Amino acid sequence: MFAIDPDIRRAHTLPGAFYTEPGYFQQAREQIFARSWQIIPGSAETVRLPFDALPFRYLPGYMEEPLLLLRDQDNQLQCLSNVCTHRGKILVEQPCKLPHGIQCSYHGRRFKCNGQFQSMPETEGMENFPSTSDHLTPLQVQEWRSFAFTSLAPEIPFQEWIAPMEDRIGFLPVEQFLFAPERSRDYLVKANWALYVDNYLEGFHIPFVHKSLHESLDWSAYRTELFAWSNVQVGISKGGEHVFDLPQQHPDFGQAVAAYYFWLFPNLMFNFYPWGLSLNIILPLAPGLTKVQFRSFIWDASKLDTGAGADVDRVEREDEAVVEQVQMGLGSRFYTHGRYSPKQERGVHHFHCLVDKMMSRPISEAAY
Ligand code: FES
Ligand SMILES: [Fe+2]
Repeated sequence: MFAIDPDIRRAHTLPGAFYTEPGYFQQAREQIFARSWQIIPGSAETVRLPFDALPFRYLPGYMEEPLLLLRDQDNQLQCLSNVCTHRGKILVEQPCKLPHGIQCSYHGRRFKCNGQFQSMPETEGMENFPSTSDHLTPLQVQEWRSFAFTSLAPEIPFQEWIAPMEDRIGFLPVEQFLFAPERSRDYLVKANWALYVDNYLEGFHIPFVHKSLHESLDWSAYRTELFAWSNVQVGISKGGEHVFDLPQQHPDFGQAVAAYYFWLFPNLMFNFYPWGLSLNIILPLAPGLTKVQFRSFIWDASKLDTGAGADVDRVEREDEAVVEQVQMGLGSRFYTHGRYSPKQERGVHHFHCLVDKMMSRPISEAAY
C-alpha cells in the first residue's frame, strides 16, 4: 500500500496522509488493531480469584467492543463478548464476582463462565433453540507474567510477539511489581497515534529534545534491536550509575544498562528501569488525537527518581510538544514523506514496514 522499501538506505517514510486522513485512521481499526494483541488494563489487580469478572472495552474511544474478562472455577482466564445474545444488553457493567455464571439483567438469560448458553425464561414454543448463536463468543486470551492480552481477530502469533521481551527481561520478577496509581496518569496528545509511536522508536531526538535525559544516557552507545513484531532500545548509563544488576548469563552482562524500552506492535510500550516498569498504552481517538496511558509498576521504590527513569513526566511533556508540532507539519501541502537515518531510525523503519504489511494484507475470513 505504501511501498516502504525494506532496505532502510533507500526507503521513504510513511506519507503524511497516513497521519492525517480519516480514511487511513478508519482502515487501521480492522487492518491493524483488530488483528493485533491488546493489553487488558487492570486485569492483574481485579481478576485474581475464581469468578472475578472485569468488563472492559477493547480500545476505548476507538474500538468500543464490549468484552468481559473472568476467571472460571478452575482459575482459568476467559475472555468473552459482554453482549447478551438475546436482545443485546451489556451483561456485566461493573467489576464483580460471578459464582453462579453470568445472568442478563434484562430478561434473565443465563450463561456459564465459558460463555455457553445455559437457560432463559419463557422460551416455550421457540424452535431451533438454543443454537450456536445463543452462546457468547469466546476470544483468545493470553497471559504474560501478571498481564492479560486479547485480540478480536488474532493474526500475530502471541509467542513470537512476546518472547523477545521475556528473553531479555526475564530475570526481573515482573509479577511482583506493584501497580502505583499515584504514579500513573493519562495524557492527551494532539497527534496521530502512529506519530507518537514514531517518536518513541528513535533516540535520535534525545540530545535535541530531552536535555535532562541526555545527561544520564550515553548517547553514542544507545542502540535499537529489531525482532519480528517488536523492538527494543537499550539505554546505557553515562556514569555507570542507576543500572540493572544483570545476571551473568544475560546477553548484556557487563554493560551499564539504565533502561530497556520495549515496543510491541502496534501500540504498547514496556519501559523497564531499575525501579520497575512504566507501561504506555497508546489509544487512537481521532486522526489527530491520541490518549497515552502511563501505568507505573514499582519493584524497588528506593531507585525511583534516579537515572534514565527519573523524570518520566517531564520527558513525556517534551515528547508531546514535539509530536504536536510534527502533526501540524504533516498536514502541509508541501510535505510528502521523509527519509530514515540508517543508524538512528531503524525502529521507525521497522514500525513503518509492519504498518505497511498489515494495512496491505487482506482480512482473512478464517480469523473470525
Ligand atoms: S437482552 Fe439479555 S435476556 Fe434479553
Ligand atoms: Fe522522546
